[in-house]
Amino acid sequence: MSFSLVDMDDPTRVLTTAAGLIAVAYLAVKWIQALHSPLNALPTVGYSGTLTSYFSALRFFFSARDIIADGYAKYRGSAFKIPTMSRWIVVITAPDMVDDIRKATDDQMSFREAVSESIQTDYMIGPQIRLDPYHVSTVRTPLTRNLASRFEDIKDEIAAAFDDLIPAKEKDWLSVPGLTTVMHIVCRTSNRLFVGLPLCRDPDYRALNEQFTIDVVKGSKIINLFPKILKPVVGRFFTNVPTSINRAMRHLGPIIEDRLAKEEQYGKDWADKPNDLISWLLEDAQGQQRTIRDLSIRVLSVNFAAIHTTSMAFTHALFDLAMHPECVDELREEVMAVIEQEGWSKGSMGKMRKVDSFIKESQRLASISALLMSRKMISDFTFSNGIKVPAGSFIGVATHCIHHDEEYYPNADEFQPFRFSEMREGEGESIKHQMVSLGLDYLTFGNGRHACPGRFFAVNELKAMLAYTLLTYDVKMATDGPRPPDLWFESSASPNRTAEVMFKRRAAAF
Ligand code: HEM
Ligand SMILES: *[C@@H]1O[C@H](CO)[C@@H](O)[C@H](O)[C@H]1NC(C)=O
Repeated sequence: MSFSLVDMDDPTRVLTTAAGLIAVAYLAVKWIQALHSPLNALPTVGYSGTLTSYFSALRFFFSARDIIADGYAKYRGSAFKIPTMSRWIVVITAPDMVDDIRKATDDQMSFREAVSESIQTDYMIGPQIRLDPYHVSTVRTPLTRNLASRFEDIKDEIAAAFDDLIPAKEKDWLSVPGLTTVMHIVCRTSNRLFVGLPLCRDPDYRALNEQFTIDVVKGSKIINLFPKILKPVVGRFFTNVPTSINRAMRHLGPIIEDRLAKEEQYGKDWADKPNDLISWLLEDAQGQQRTIRDLSIRVLSVNFAAIHTTSMAFTHALFDLAMHPECVDELREEVMAVIEQEGWSKGSMGKMRKVDSFIKESQRLASISALLMSRKMISDFTFSNGIKVPAGSFIGVATHCIHHDEEYYPNADEFQPFRFSEMREGEGESIKHQMVSLGLDYLTFGNGRHACPGRFFAVNELKAMLAYTLLTYDVKMATDGPRPPDLWFESSASPNRTAEVMFKRRAAAF
């Protein structure tokens, strides 16, 4: 009779026992590490035990907003930590601490490391966008600088896309799904600026860019389940991302080849060089970065940052417009007065203060996440109020709570469309409260050196779309009742994905 702990003849027994021992060892190491973690000094919201914290981590999937709100109520002005499946997150609640993040250097805390760990780009796309994210400077400078000269195209695409996707008549209301329709319009409009005609209207290219963000986010969730050693294989073979990159290369390859050939033949500033993202990227791309693959990845990455963010923002604005018919006349008057005087231009968008305020207020109440400004600590960091966060930990700012805090926003839960345009009427306040201005208590675009570099484009695009909507259509929700509630998963929020919006062409539309 054998008396061994493991019956060696039964391979499943061997495997389960081995797995069990590894799990016990793993938890023991975690437990010892946890006992000595400098994070212990910070209060926890939820369970903090090595094992029990996993219950709270599960709760994070569907109740992150409530967990963060609980912590905010208790530790306002300070910080607390919450467990998630992959890591602890230190939640920052005070604008003064946001100011410390704003001033911090990349050697102290890293935006890039936080992003690449949470969305696992290394394993799906490759490390190059983390190691040399030069396309971020391309968005910040040449793209932003060219908004005035490319504004006519942007406006042209907005008009064409609305006409194609919302072909409403004067007599009958036309009902369309809000978010998907808006996403098609935003994808076309953004890509009119990025890659121009005819590619921006290509249905496969559009579908690819709309889907890419979702593929990356889904892929990252799968990769995050595996230990580091398996991640490269999982990223390569079990996500759609490598296929999407090839699909992008098929669309962009011929254009990029042509640009490279023309540059070779006629020099950097050849006649009729298109004024678009591809040309702006080529101004800075070096060596390996001048390949079809790398340039296609940069175009996809800019789309990744641009499409869903802007689409969700406009969908929220559209819901708010439909829910607040009382402010339509005032907005329309502003738009008509500006357009009659100056026509459509970047300059005229700058004059639409009420439209700006409306969208800014909409984003105050419904930004993309309850936690923005994620950073991974590279060195130990002491905030100016004395709170210490050790190297290796992750932080995020409780943006949703800050945006809903009565101290910063009187009647904070109320949608007050002209909240910010009224603030701008005060002396010396005229530029402070624009949507593109960053604030320690207005965090839609983050703050500091990694604040959204695409915000000047995003805001001009959003304003042009809203102005176009106001002049062209009457708008209402397809169903009566309250505004469709936002959908939350982990700390991310999205407008209701199926709610329909109804449009009727105005008689005076032009
Ligand atoms: C309403 C629309 C948008 C919202 C709400 C938004 C929001 C954000 C936020 C919160 C960040 C991180 C800031 C931080 O952590 O401090 C960010 C970064 C970024 N955004 Fe946007 N964004 C929008 C549109 C765009 C557009 C249209 C583009 C491109 C044209 C863009 C390109 C980027 C890039 C490249 C980064 C990374 C910055 C870096 O690496 O330093 N975004 N955005
Ligand atoms: C989204 O909106 C639709 C229509 O208003 C509604 O039927 C649906 O229940 C909403 N979905 C969620 C998850 O709130």
